[in-house]
Amino acid sequence: MDFKEFNNEELSNKNKELSNKMEIHKCVCCHDAPCSRMYKNINPERIIRAIKFDNKKGARNCIQDEENCLEKNLTCNEKCPLNVDIDTIIKNLLSEVDRIDNLEDIDVSTEVCGVKLENPFLLSSSIVGSRYEMCKRAMELGWAGIATKTICMMPIHESSPRFSAMKDWDRAFLGFKNIEQLSEYSVEENMKMIKRLKKEFPSKVIIASIMGRDEKEWEYLTKEVTQAGADLIELNFSCPNMKHKGTGSDVGQNPDLVEKYTRIVRNNTNIPILAKMTPNITDMREPAIAAKKGGADGIAAINTIKSITGIDMDSLVPEPQVNGKSALGGYSSKAVKPIALRFIAEMANCKDLNDIYYSGMGGIYTWKDAVEFMLLGCTSVQVTTSVMEYGYRIIDDLLLGLKIFMREKNYNNVRDFVGISKPNVINNDELEKDTVEFPKFNYEKCIGCGRCYISCRDGGHEAIKFDEKRKPTIDGSKCVGCQLCRLVCPQSAIGISSKRVKKS
Ligand SMILES: Cc1cc2nc3c(=O)[nH]c(=O)nc-3n(C[C@H](O)[C@H](O)[C@H](O)COP(=O)(O)O)c2cc1C
Repeated sequence: MDFKEFNNEELSNKNKELSNKMEIHKCVCCHDAPCSRMYKNINPERIIRAIKFDNKKGARNCIQDEENCLEKNLTCNEKCPLNVDIDTIIKNLLSEVDRIDNLEDIDVSTEVCGVKLENPFLLSSSIVGSRYEMCKRAMELGWAGIATKTICMMPIHESSPRFSAMKDWDRAFLGFKNIEQLSEYSVEENMKMIKRLKKEFPSKVIIASIMGRDEKEWEYLTKEVTQAGADLIELNFSCPNMKHKGTGSDVGQNPDLVEKYTRIVRNNTNIPILAKMTPNITDMREPAIAAKKGGADGIAAINTIKSITGIDMDSLVPEPQVNGKSALGGYSSKAVKPIALRFIAEMANCKDLNDIYYSGMGGIYTWKDAVEFMLLGCTSVQVTTSVMEYGYRIIDDLLLGLKIFMREKNYNNVRDFVGISKPNVINNDELEKDTVEFPKFNYEKCIGCGRCYISCRDGGHEAIKFDEKRKPTIDGSKCVGCQLCRLVCPQSAIGISSKRVKKS
């Protein structure tokens, strides 16, 4: 196609996908969304939330009556505060994906250290699992269990404010920093909560997260949570925000201390133990092996990464500012997922560590994020920041997306796919490096912006030509197949050629 001949309709078709995405990004996922009352037969909030959480197929399943789904509720006077074009989003969804039936019988049950879970999704230790009323609400919505906010015997005084965030252009968190410490509730209050939750939700799993300052405290907390009826104990060797030396990530960085404290816990309980690891370390395998030696049944990873998210340009103080000062804090959310996956892959592929359980976390927002952790060996996953951002309701799409994934891949059981991607992670020097995969332009989608040309010219191998008709083409003699062009293309108009070519 000649680029000069684009008419408005063609351009608008090329941009349809982009503008549909923008419309979806406009939606802010309101609480008690006005749009949920605007239509007779659908709840747009539920549908658009599913699309935003990488679950388009699940979104399609939220529409029962395709023919009448856009019928308005004429008695409703409410409207979307941001004027999101709901009708167009729904029409596009119906034209793009088909319903997937019979999801009810898919078995998503799994286990953590031998303890049965109705599904792999747990709340990780933090504010989201700190109070009875909150945990109750989460469990009623479908979470399989919670790791409590870390229970301790030291006085906790938190600062205000205590969070800061790196955001995407559409307001969503990319990275999140916290300078928070441990549970502000007493041991007694926490035991009361565990007992009550276990009594009211016997089939849900309670992981008691604990941290002691010395042997005696580890022993005391272990006995208390075991007696209260916790199903597992998670040892917090990883909080980066501790005031007391020799606690939190100080322990996780010291394999001897990890082994010593794990052994004390092992000697004082008969319930399974997860050791929660710090990513503020070069090689997580060393403390993980120490935890196993000390008697841990599994590894939970990762806790947050020490960080500074940004500096305010008026006061020149890093965020969050507490009376004009700040501190390093733990980084979580989407930005940390690749780092978490790396640590899980390294441990799960280590011969000394491939026979223990993994509970993975760090940046899980969607079912796909969760499945990635599972493919690398985690039988369960844990979540905090996405719940802090969007609420417990995200369990809807974690569950639905997982079921659709399993149906489409013909997995009958979670065990069928846990760890199957592990052998696909090998050392860089073992990768095949004798052939090249060239990019392939889709001129139907290309809008002639030239971004591929700029990146290849200034950050690649000067292998893309860009003619006066704004058409990019590849010079095969220069292209090394790095695929930077494909990654920068805003239109997803660059694919990969079907076969690899031997390097000349
Ligand atoms: C505000 C906040 C408080 C946290 N408190 C604890 C804690 O008390 N104990 C603990 O082991 N981890 C704590 N974490 C770490 C989380 O459990 C989790 O390991 C980490 O945030 C990565 O997961 P995410 O990206 O899903 O948040 C906290 C995280 C956040 C954001």
